[in-house]
Amino acid sequence: MQEVELGRTGIRVSRLVLGCGNFGGIGSAPAFFGLGETREQAFALMDAAWEAGITTFDTADAYGGGRSEEAIGAWLRARGPAVRDRVVLSTKTFNPMREGADHGLAPARVRRQVESSLRRLGVERVALFLTHEWDPDVPIAETAGVLDELVAEGKIGAYGLSNVDGAQLREALAAGSFGWVQNSYSLLDREPEREVLPLCAEHGLGFTPFGPLAGGWLAGRYRRGEPPPPGSRMTLRPEPYAHLDHPRVYDGLEALEARAAALGTTGAALAVAWLLAEPRVSAVIVGPRRPAQLEPALAALRLELSAAQRDELAALFPSCGLS
Ligand SMILES: NC(=O)c1ccc[n+]([C@@H]2O[C@H](COP(=O)([O-])OP(=O)(O)OC[C@H]3O[C@@H](n4cnc5c(N)ncnc54)[C@H](OP(=O)(O)O)[C@@H]3O)[C@@H](O)[C@H]2O)c1
Repeated sequence: MQEVELGRTGIRVSRLVLGCGNFGGIGSAPAFFGLGETREQAFALMDAAWEAGITTFDTADAYGGGRSEEAIGAWLRARGPAVRDRVVLSTKTFNPMREGADHGLAPARVRRQVESSLRRLGVERVALFLTHEWDPDVPIAETAGVLDELVAEGKIGAYGLSNVDGAQLREALAAGSFGWVQNSYSLLDREPEREVLPLCAEHGLGFTPFGPLAGGWLAGRYRRGEPPPPGSRMTLRPEPYAHLDHPRVYDGLEALEARAAALGTTGAALAVAWLLAEPRVSAVIVGPRRPAQLEPALAALRLELSAAQRDELAALFPSCGLS
């Protein structure tokens, strides 16, 4: 597996990152805490990813209400120092750890959350730490201040921003040493092309997209005129994707499948390859539910798309087009 330096952090990450957002929950939503992947299923996913050369794992304090970090911690203990000393962990804070608990990026809270993440993960340091959301109530310079202290203390290696727009990114860059951005980006969500990707390139920041399959839409999970499969993301947490249930999106998805078949691959692999072929993308965060679902992402590493092929695929989704 190829590794790349993440922006100006000096830290190397694998080109595919294992998203651990479904371990013990579905992301940070309290309604799903305790659901999602079991400990055993999470172990199987981490084993498969590690065997495939994925050394970078993405989690958050609030994923599964702490269960995601705990599962990673248990796996690291089980697999021993050979794995623990090589893994590159990325975690974040903003969301409440349980219904009604505090949230945000106030310095004292960030410090408390970093320290509790280290305990759940069973490590003394995480390489990468992100602000999970923008906090309108706390000046970003105050958050950057505590993050600088945590770097100096050796508790985090570098810090970045998640879910920011162009104006927020500019403000943050004036206030601290943020090294990369983690935003949603896919064939079905091209918003970062507007401002965030150009800013990342201008300032030498890394960019690690999440949602490469638009929550499963680009993996053929949802078909025109058919109800979503039981237990799928669209039955559990449809809000971020509801707008995709549109005839023009199904046109694009069907054309994507046809292109993929002609190339002897799958739509999901092409969708990940499309991200990997964007020069401003450092590494792609994938969210498989089972080890076999890693296959399209691994196949994507072998598909090197030209800029022209990339443009052709983007043109299949004109309603999401920005370039
Ligand atoms: N910073 C943030 O705010 C943020 C937000 C979201 C995610 N993330 C991170 O990014 C990771 C990935 O995000 P994501 O889960 O939204 O990614 P995604 O790849 O867009 O969607 C994952 C979903 O797609 C389906 N899927 C995945 N692989 C498949 C395959 N091979 N074949 C068919 N369906 C497949 C599954 O849907 P079903 O569940 O329906 O089976 C899975 O839950 C998360 O685990 C998390 O670490 C970060």
